[in-house]
Amino acid sequence: MKVLVTGGAGYVGSHVAWALREAGHDVFIFDDLSEGHRPAAGGMPLVEGDLLSSEDLGRAFKRTGAEAVIHMAAKCLVEESVREPALYWRINVAGSLRLLAAMQRAGARLIVFSSSAATYGQPDREVIDEAAPKAPCNPYGTTKLVFEQALIDHAAAPVFTTAPAPAANDKAAAAATKPSAAKRAHGKAAGKGKDKDKAKARDGKGEPGESVDAAPSLLGPGRLGYVALRYFNAAGAHSSGKIGEDHPVETHLIPNLLRAALSGGARPLKIFGSDYPTPDGTAVRDYVHVEDLASAHVKALEYLARGGESASMNLGTGRGSSILEVLEAAKKVTGRDFPAERAPRRAGDPARLVASNALASERLGWRPERTLEDIIASAWKWHSEHPKGYAGK
Ligand SMILES: NC(=O)c1ccc[n+]([C@@H]2O[C@H](COP(=O)([O-])OP(=O)(O)OC[C@H]3O[C@@H](n4cnc5c(N)ncnc54)[C@H](O)[C@@H]3O)[C@@H](O)[C@H]2O)c1
Repeated sequence: MKVLVTGGAGYVGSHVAWALREAGHDVFIFDDLSEGHRPAAGGMPLVEGDLLSSEDLGRAFKRTGAEAVIHMAAKCLVEESVREPALYWRINVAGSLRLLAAMQRAGARLIVFSSSAATYGQPDREVIDEAAPKAPCNPYGTTKLVFEQALIDHAAAPVFTTAPAPAANDKAAAAATKPSAAKRAHGKAAGKGKDKDKAKARDGKGEPGESVDAAPSLLGPGRLGYVALRYFNAAGAHSSGKIGEDHPVETHLIPNLLRAALSGGARPLKIFGSDYPTPDGTAVRDYVHVEDLASAHVKALEYLARGGESASMNLGTGRGSSILEVLEAAKKVTGRDFPAERAPRRAGDPARLVASNALASERLGWRPERTLEDIIASAWKWHSEHPKGYAGK
């Protein structure tokens, strides 16, 4: 499948793009590099453009022929969203609506959207399922929920796009030259010694009369299909050590904690809130490895391509860890001791955010495989080998 990944040069986006490539899809990245990093694209084609520009978006679809979109480009800092709500409404809502309009024009009907646990606000239950009330407590969460609603409304329309499908001849030509078909054949069938005949047929080298298994284009008139994935706390880095988290303003616990460990105590970790109604008084979160998140996107896309029903789904492990538990695990994994200091609660931080992942498991067959220790070990490898992030390379 030809897939356009918006925000694909960012933290989660790059891991998703790498996983899609690994699964044999043709990946194109769309990013304005405001927060993303060129090397994170890993050599995949990068269309530099702004979500707010219909022209940039139109150019991206024209150049790539993308059949599906993974939409991750966004502003994503809670505190900034409180200070500058207009920026969040503009990029996360107006920009995302422009993306939908560009998809309509191009005939692309499948979208996987990065939503967030922030859509739930202060949850009223220990483990959050998708039916829990949605009451975001900051503009960031509101913008994610509003765009989910836009997806629901567009998917309910009998026809999302009337753009014509590529002509039959174009389709055959596209399929014959389609690198993904060959890649799939080499990587999954021929490369692993399975089903070599099918691979030969896909490469167009089969015997005369043998049918060539060309994937039909997914472009063309029809309804919109979407999956909105509500991530809990994305964390960790790629097992290759080549990509990881590098935000100019870092608000996430694990990178801040590992930087504290690397600084040898010069930058103590701040623990925000020690008086929560949790066993040790610190906030409890559901940390999910970014490579597990990435595999969920691949599964969501393939689910939609099979005609799976549109839905919003949580992505979390179902296990909560308090800040003190993460701190202890980090000391064990890194072998370093480092200071932490207590600070007041941050406004709007709930005591506990833990996901039920039953729906993603049932519909997508997704199960997170990596533990908190795996998360910390992979992030430690990334941060210790790239103390200045991508700038150091
Ligand atoms: N990191 C998390 O824990 C987490 C949790 C829940 C949801 N999310 C969502 O996942 C997505 C990715 O998050 P991330 O942590 O990787 O963030 P990130 O900032 O690393 O990635 C966002 C990417 O979008 C790009 N971008 C921003 N504005 C753009 C615009 N106007 N046009 C084109 N590109 C633009 C940035 O350059 C960046 O590469 C976001 O949508 C975020 O809301 C992340």
